[in-house]
Formats: sequence, structure tokens, C-alpha cells
Amino acid sequence: MNSGYTSELRHLNFTIIGNWKMNGSLADARIYSEKLDNFFREKKLRSQVVVCPPYIYLAETHGHFKKGGQDCSENENGAFTGEVSAEMLSEMGCGYVILGHSERREMAETSKQIAKKAEIAHKYNLKTVICVGEKDGEDFVEVVKEQLDKSLAISCDPRNTVIAYEPVWAIGTGKTPTLKQIEERHAYIKENCKFPVLYGGSVKPENSGLISKVPNVDGLLVGGASLEAESFISIINECENK
Ligand code: PGA
Repeated sequence: MNSGYTSELRHLNFTIIGNWKMNGSLADARIYSEKLDNFFREKKLRSQVVVCPPYIYLAETHGHFKKGGQDCSENENGAFTGEVSAEMLSEMGCGYVILGHSERREMAETSKQIAKKAEIAHKYNLKTVICVGEKDGEDFVEVVKEQLDKSLAISCDPRNTVIAYEPVWAIGTGKTPTLKQIEERHAYIKENCKFPVLYGGSVKPENSGLISKVPNVDGLLVGGASLEAESFISIINECENK
């Protein structure tokens, strides 16, 4: 199958995203930024690295790496208490936003809302990371096809959107699909849309080298193992050696 990317381009675009979820502190954000920044100053990397801290720590998370939001509002602005807009993320220096993470879909976020968020995110020049994945016992094709059909906005194109395939049963459990399954599932997603596909779900320093070498894997979305700078840096190093 032809994903539309040469292997050279695929490597240049390899994207590693750290999603802190609702973890960390202000002090952590500062120390983490310093460690990552020092690492980036010493090493010229081919991969794109993006850190997604909680909104409130975005201002203190900075260095020679990109940053992103973990979500954004489906509305542009207005009376939406507690929400954060795509424009605000952009203003805070974000280049990316994660949309439709399974933990948000679990809170009743719909694919339709995700598409709406993506459209607004693109308006403010954010790259969207649209998450899809089946729960334990669900059929991969059935679930992911529907999520892809409904979560992608008309504004999505391969320059502003990546898909993150994250089997829900693999998130935070230490379980992962086999490398063959990852290859086949990413191939299926690429057959259905033309976007790069990241893998997420229990990525650790120990398995990141192997997963990053799987054909059709264009990057990684890392949760728990991105919380410590040292562990995230090990993952980045593993991917650089692929
Ligand atoms: P995990 O989370 O790496 O802790 O499994 C991945 C994710 O939820 O994006």
C-alpha cells in the first residue's frame, strides 16, 4: 500500500509527542523544560518532539522543542466556563493540539465535536493529533472506521493533521498490540485517510525502538513514560537510532 510518503520523508517527519495528562506541577514543568532544552542543545534531532502539559503550565514549558494542548474548545470564544480556545493555545506558543483522546471520548466527547474542534484549530494554525482506537473486545475496523469517518474535518490535510492510533486497552496498561498488528492497523488507517499515523499505548523506553521501526509508524504518542524527562529523552534517542 502506498501511504504517499517516501521513507526519507517519513523519517524526517517522525513525530514524538509527550502527553502529561493531568500530571506534574509548576516546578516539574520548569525542571523538565530545562532538561529537554539542554538535551536539544547538545543534539541535532531529525524527529519532531512535542510536549503537551496541562494548559496551566504551558507558559512555563518552553525550550528548543514544540508544545501542544491536550484539547481545545469546539467554540471559538464566548461564555464557555472552563474551556480553552484554539486561539489561546496558539497565543501560548502551541503548534499542536491533541483531539479526541480516548479519555475525553470516555467523557462523552463525540466524533462530531472532534471534527468541529479540528476545524477551529486549523483556523489558528494548530496541527491536530486526532486519536482513534478500539476498546478491549471491540472490533478494530468497525470502531476506527467510524471514528475516522466522523472525526476528520474538511480542513484536515496531511500537512496539518496526524492520526494517533491508540488501542484503549493498551493505554496505561503495559500491554501493546504485536508489532505485526501495529503495522497492519496503521496500514488500514492509511488506506482510509492519507495522514501520517502515530502509535500510542504503553510506549516505554524499552519498546519504543522496536515500535518506531515498524513500517507505517510515523511517530509515537507517549503518556506515562513522558512524565520524567529522562524517560522521554530515552524514547527520543531510541527513535533517532531507528
Ligand atoms: P500511556 O498513554 O503511554 O501511558 O499508555 C498513552 C496515551 O494515553 O496517549
